[in-house]
Amino acid sequence: MAYLHWVPELDTGIAEIDTQHKRILDYINKLHDLRSSPDRAALGDVIGETVDYTLSHFAFEESVIESAGYMFAGPHKKVHELFTRKVAEMQSRFDAGEDIATELHGMLSRWLFNHIRNEDHGYIDSVKAYLRMTGKQRDADKAELKAELLQELAAKQNGKKGWFARLFGG
Ligand SMILES: [Fe+2]
Ligand SMILES: [Fe+2]
Repeated sequence: MAYLHWVPELDTGIAEIDTQHKRILDYINKLHDLRSSPDRAALGDVIGETVDYTLSHFAFEESVIESAGYMFAGPHKKVHELFTRKVAEMQSRFDAGEDIATELHGMLSRWLFNHIRNEDHGYIDSVKAYLRMTGKQRDADKAELKAELLQELAAKQNGKKGWFARLFGG
């Protein structure tokens, strides 16, 4: 697998989601750069950051689609969970000293591209309708979403580990 490049078909048109997806691609590319590095500590850091950020994105996305009343919010969450389990297995193999970086990079690249293009695209209409309905899409800009919608979501995270802070530094 080579470098990932953003392609328009990955766009959801939901500003904050697109920003997060792009950031995940950046992390995957960082992993691409370091995947054969002899520096296991640095590699471990990148793997950890990539996984943490991706899981934070999942939590955010699940929160939004649930609020939006998306019909397949439950199954979507299940898909995230299955993937999370696979990634956790790879991480323990890495911790046990195995060389999994290239395999992990390939898996992340393929899975996320397909997932964004297929499953994530399924919720676009619901989420956009929700944002419109709640008046949060006035200019659909990130600042607006941060200030209002995301605060509601943060209030709902109740003790879930700090994914909100990770995504928004708040
Ligand atoms: Fe996503
Ligand atoms: Fe998703």
